[in-house]
Amino acid sequence: MTAAQPIGVGVIGCGEIAQLMHLPILHELPAFRIAALCDLSAEVMADLGARYGVAGLYRDYRALLADPAVDAVVICTFDHAPVVEAALKAGKHVLVEKPLGFTAAEARPLVALAAATPVVAMVGYMKHYDTGYRLGVERLAALGRPKMIHVHDFAGRFDRYPALYTQIRGGDVDPARLAAGRAEVEARVKAMLGPAHAAYHDLHMTLLMLGSHDLAVLRGAFGTPETVHYAAAPGPTHVMALLGFPDGVPALVEIAFGAQYEWWDEWIAVHGERAELRIEFQNPYVRNTAATVRIKEAAGEGPSERTLFGAPDTAFRRQWQHFAHCVATGAAPETPLAGGLADLELAEAILHALPERRA
Ligand SMILES: NC(=O)c1ccc[n+]([C@@H]2O[C@H](COP(=O)([O-])OP(=O)(O)OC[C@H]3O[C@@H](n4cnc5c(N)ncnc54)[C@H](O)[C@@H]3O)[C@@H](O)[C@H]2O)c1
Repeated sequence: MTAAQPIGVGVIGCGEIAQLMHLPILHELPAFRIAALCDLSAEVMADLGARYGVAGLYRDYRALLADPAVDAVVICTFDHAPVVEAALKAGKHVLVEKPLGFTAAEARPLVALAAATPVVAMVGYMKHYDTGYRLGVERLAALGRPKMIHVHDFAGRFDRYPALYTQIRGGDVDPARLAAGRAEVEARVKAMLGPAHAAYHDLHMTLLMLGSHDLAVLRGAFGTPETVHYAAAPGPTHVMALLGFPDGVPALVEIAFGAQYEWWDEWIAVHGERAELRIEFQNPYVRNTAATVRIKEAAGEGPSERTLFGAPDTAFRRQWQHFAHCVATGAAPETPLAGGLADLELAEAILHALPERRA
């Protein structure tokens, strides 16, 4: 591949997020060419292969990694760590969907491997590339030292928005294979939780599948919190944690899965001495939208509130543009694997700060 040639991307795991976001965006951006597909379902691959004109169809990701037309991979399977490891060892550039892994222990060697491999390796924290989020982070500097940070993610209905797009689901995947994969992950998570916190498996999954985005946007704006002062679990997929930054600023994080809101309920609010700023995210499945930024501040001797809008764009698309830039220039990605590891470590620290609850 030369700088002028499109980057050949192999898509590993062709389910919902690959079909709704990665495939159409890769198809559309001239910097990329969809070089190969891999999924457990031959039905899904045949359909998508015909739709996107892709000849390289694989049931085993190792075979895709041996394809010389593949310069880079996007990993959209359930279990990411073994695929990231194999892709880095094969010398491919990597975009891995969040979370980087299910435990910090499995993610740590991946960070070391990526550092020793001359490829671009980044985590798919697309909210980092959201124009509204970036606008909000830019405006944060004017608030001075925060008195308090508040991160909230109750999400909303997940069934409405995927229905906006055509999706192919295969009926030809062996359920025993899927169950075996899930059991293997559960064993790793169980070992990480330990017997005293064994009952928090579902909470851990909520923290990773939903909350890792929120830990990442908090880290993107303020760095990594160093302390977990307090954590509580009001429900099996509902967690609250009070975190502390090295300069003493507290951050309250609350994440819950399962709300049936018709709106998308995910925001980060920063309370300063004289002003307040809140970045509100849009439903991630909706293309060409961006977060909004609400600022409350003084207007003379009275209060004022204004809303700034991020430029309409798709965060997943901007993420791919950044990936292409890093591949072309050798620049370090803004969402490297090390950030994915930091979020896993924080998620585990939150879980271990919860009251003991055995299975
Ligand atoms: N960035 C985001 O906002 C966002 C949104 C949704 C999902 N995701 C992430 O994307 C990943 C996939 O989520 P999804 O909703 O698309 O799930 P999904 O179940 O719809 O798709 C997963 C696909 O991977 C395939 N697969 C599983 N194991 C495989 C293997 N070993 N080899 C090849 N193919 C395999 C399955 O057949 C399935 O088609 C998850 O890790 C999730 O966290 C991210």
